Amino acid sequence: MKLENKTILITGASSGIGSELARQLARRRNRLILIARRQELLQQLVQQLPQGEQQHLLFSCDVADAQQVKDVCEWLTSSSVQIDVLLLNAGVGEGFDARNIDLDTFRHQVDVNFFGVVYFVKYLLPQFIERGGGVIAATGSLAGYRGVPNAAPYSASKAALMNFIESLRIDVRRYNIQCTLISPGFVKTPMTDKNDYVMPFIMSTEKAARIIIRGLQRGRSEIHFPLRLSLCAKVARLFPNRFYAWVMQDSRKKIGKRVDG
Ligand SMILES: NC(=O)c1ccc[n+]([C@@H]2O[C@H](COP(=O)([O-])OP(=O)(O)OC[C@H]3O[C@@H](n4cnc5c(N)ncnc54)[C@H](OP(=O)(O)O)[C@@H]3O)[C@@H](O)[C@H]2O)c1
Repeated sequence: MKLENKTILITGASSGIGSELARQLARRRNRLILIARRQELLQQLVQQLPQGEQQHLLFSCDVADAQQVKDVCEWLTSSSVQIDVLLLNAGVGEGFDARNIDLDTFRHQVDVNFFGVVYFVKYLLPQFIERGGGVIAATGSLAGYRGVPNAAPYSASKAALMNFIESLRIDVRRYNIQCTLISPGFVKTPMTDKNDYVMPFIMSTEKAARIIIRGLQRGRSEIHFPLRLSLCAKVARLFPNRFYAWVMQDSRKKIGKRVDG
């Protein structure tokens, strides 16, 4: 599918990968529906975007709140806004020490990273099924392949998301709906700007967005990058558990600096 002259909904559009996807997709004459909590950032973004025949729309919405997502989706459906592509990209992640679990932080990451995708699929999938097609893409992470140190809620929420997209792909197969998992490694955004450890092969948002758009157009079931890191992560899935834990211990020392002090 060519991503031109389409209607594309992007969550997490106020920053990082989401806002760069919006810039690149608007240049291709797509109409955008931009979603995040910080409305002022969305407004600034929309002012910079080329306008097509139909105005871009923006919604301040907490994707972790099912009612807010329902309200947005119902408004779109009742206003006959036909969405071609869902880019469910909103996410949060921060250092986390599994030796001392903070339930609020854990739940929040699962609510945003996992349920923030499930809610949109619940409320917009009927539209896709009725029209017999569309693209549903969700941003996971290479950290979802296996448990990574100092990121238990992030890793667990992204792993849940991977399996959700995989199940969904099978369940909607007959409706011509493309389900794509986006699995980035490190991308330079406000999320990773907080990190004080080495991030191998970190790439710009511009490059990440180009790779994502190209992968979506090619109908990929998974878009993983950067290749050198994603291939290592795929191989690491085959490691025996104890060997994997031993290998990752070393990285825990570096990554753990932030929470251990
Ligand atoms: N950067 C990386 O290295 C990397 C690697 C792998 C995967 N990812 C994934 O890529 C996606 C984008 O991350 P990013 O790096 O671009 O981070 P970012 O710059 O921090 O952007 C995160 C976006 O998510 C939105 N968001 C967070 N909580 C939300 C909520 N409750 N409701 C609605 N929107 C919410 C934020 O908007 P508001 O704060 O305005 O709501 C923001 O637009 C995330 O899913 C992340 O897990 C990133």
